[in-house]
Amino acid sequence: MSTDKPRAPYVDLIAHNAAFKQRMLEAVGRVIDHGWFILGPEVQELERRVAEYLGVAHAVGVNTGTDALVLALRLRGVGPGDEVITSSHGFVATASAVRLVGATPVLVEVDEDSMLIDPAAIEEAITPRTRAVIAVHLNGHPCEVDAIAAICERHALTFIEDCAQAYGTRYRGAQVGGRDIGCFSLHPLKVFSACGDAGFITVRTEEERDRLRQMRNLGLRDRNNCAIASNNPRLHTVQAAMLLVKIDAVDGFIAARQANAAAYREALRDVVVLPPEEGEHRVIYSAFVIRPPEDIERDALVAALHERGVDAKIHYPYAIHQQPAYEGSATRPLPVTERVVSRIISLPVIAELTPAQRQLVIDGVRDAIATLRAERASS
Ligand SMILES: Cc1ncc(COP(=O)(O)O)c(C=O)c1O
Repeated sequence: MSTDKPRAPYVDLIAHNAAFKQRMLEAVGRVIDHGWFILGPEVQELERRVAEYLGVAHAVGVNTGTDALVLALRLRGVGPGDEVITSSHGFVATASAVRLVGATPVLVEVDEDSMLIDPAAIEEAITPRTRAVIAVHLNGHPCEVDAIAAICERHALTFIEDCAQAYGTRYRGAQVGGRDIGCFSLHPLKVFSACGDAGFITVRTEEERDRLRQMRNLGLRDRNNCAIASNNPRLHTVQAAMLLVKIDAVDGFIAARQANAAAYREALRDVVVLPPEEGEHRVIYSAFVIRPPEDIERDALVAALHERGVDAKIHYPYAIHQQPAYEGSATRPLPVTERVVSRIISLPVIAELTPAQRQLVIDGVRDAIATLRAERASS
């Protein structure tokens, strides 16, 4: 493969971490020197800093975003016989957390424009067995938090915000994750990312914080007393130490992504369907998702972008109810979701894109669409 051809990468973790590498190595060295590898002081410090950044009362560090969702459901007693409503357009982790606690995921439609869970679809799917709603702030765009919170309140349901792709996203000025329970992932591909797995849960009361602290640590109340049967999905001290090095840079990553997004909006508005407008919200662009015009086939456009060095992806090519593991999880047809997943393309939007790479994306999209149209006209 030629290395000379200009490329716009979808991810570049080496470039992303380069500026922090030395300080992260020093931070890991300090952990090795103090030796408190399990729930060490860096975990508590990260929890404090994250809660402060998000403006929430408490954050509890866990091993992954999936563990955060599992613990959030268990915290509210969701289990066998219960139903949990979430959108079918998204990452399988959300539905798998529901299954892992023995409950039934009920997968519903997204709104066609926002590509986020449709509050009307939530309301329609509620049954006497419904215990919780998980709203996924997909691609860093906030769901209709007010409307969903109102539905949950009306039906006495737990409202879990899956903020795995939305650390720093704001809904009408408020950070997401603060309404009831927030679940975050710091997986390496997230905007605020660990060098491995990490996640956390946000809650509003000390009582729930303390129970989560026990639940992430085998249910132990102290060294010798165990009140809850649980596993041990703890946030690792070395990950917390490295994340503390990066935490102040997160707003800079977001600003750089927003600048890329603004450039794409300006340069591509006449050729593709753009992601929803930010409006009064703050969008962190964990992905910048376009849809081609109706006359352009999605997969042909992705192939044409790859030929032009643009590392476009699809998040996600299948809705969750289309995965064999979740067959039957949609209780009614989901035509909007299926149409959305057949049209979406994620463009490279990482903070590390150079101006030339950003231009390559813009030129690539315009040229690929023009070429596909010309080829069709001449065939
Ligand atoms: C929407 C969503 N929920 C949950 C997860 C699970 O997070 P993790 O990979 O940290 O388990 C992810 C990402 O991986 C995600 O994108």
